[in-house]
Amino acid sequence: MNTRSANARQPASATCMPANDAQAAPQRHEIYQLVHKGLRAAMSDALTRLGRVDLASAENIGDVLAAVDDLLQLCAEHLDHENAFLHSAMEKAAPGSSKRCADDHAHHVKTIGDLKTRLDEARTAGALGRERALKVLYRLLAVFVAENLAHMEIEESANTDILHRHYSDADLLAIEHRIHAHIKPERMMTWLRWILPNVNRQQRAMMMRGMQAAMPPELFADVLDTVKPHLNESERVALAADLA
Ligand SMILES: [Fe+2]
Repeated sequence: MNTRSANARQPASATCMPANDAQAAPQRHEIYQLVHKGLRAAMSDALTRLGRVDLASAENIGDVLAAVDDLLQLCAEHLDHENAFLHSAMEKAAPGSSKRCADDHAHHVKTIGDLKTRLDEARTAGALGRERALKVLYRLLAVFVAENLAHMEIEESANTDILHRHYSDADLLAIEHRIHAHIKPERMMTWLRWILPNVNRQQRAMMMRGMQAAMPPELFADVLDTVKPHLNESERVALAADLA
């Protein structure tokens, strides 16, 4: 059987390919893509570190729990940005279109609160209770990550389709700039730490060339210092070439 030709006859929904990616339409601005790559990396990192924690090291436990805490803060900030800037744009153009993801966000807010409670329990548990508290936190964080991965796919396919139908790329870039302006300067470097190393080379080059042109040199040097430790050698060489 010729799988390729059989798939070619099927609608996108029957081939696991998001409708958004299945169309050969001109490239549009995808407002979720870069930040979601950063969030997926932060989620994977925190979950993996929690799974590998050294139960005999108070220092390592503290570092790992701080990483989980940072992740929960990123997730809370991100859903606030989406509610305030993207869901409002969707509702203005197509009333009711953000409801599914808004309901997910309400659930995520509650889960973040529950995870913070579990995090505090792991921080304050005595030696006997600590292993169990870390194990429960690991499992619950894994479920939260799984829910977020599925949720982000809806945003990058269905929500993006709605935004593309009702807004131009210039409109979407203006919304994106409003989100960036809303992020407190002291939080921006944390967002860049997760996004810039975890996008592809071309996306990284595009973002960093823009920053290089717009930022004072000292601030751009701080961004480079933040990003480089999280790149491998070939990525560092590529970045140097792209910024030259
Ligand atoms: Fe979301």
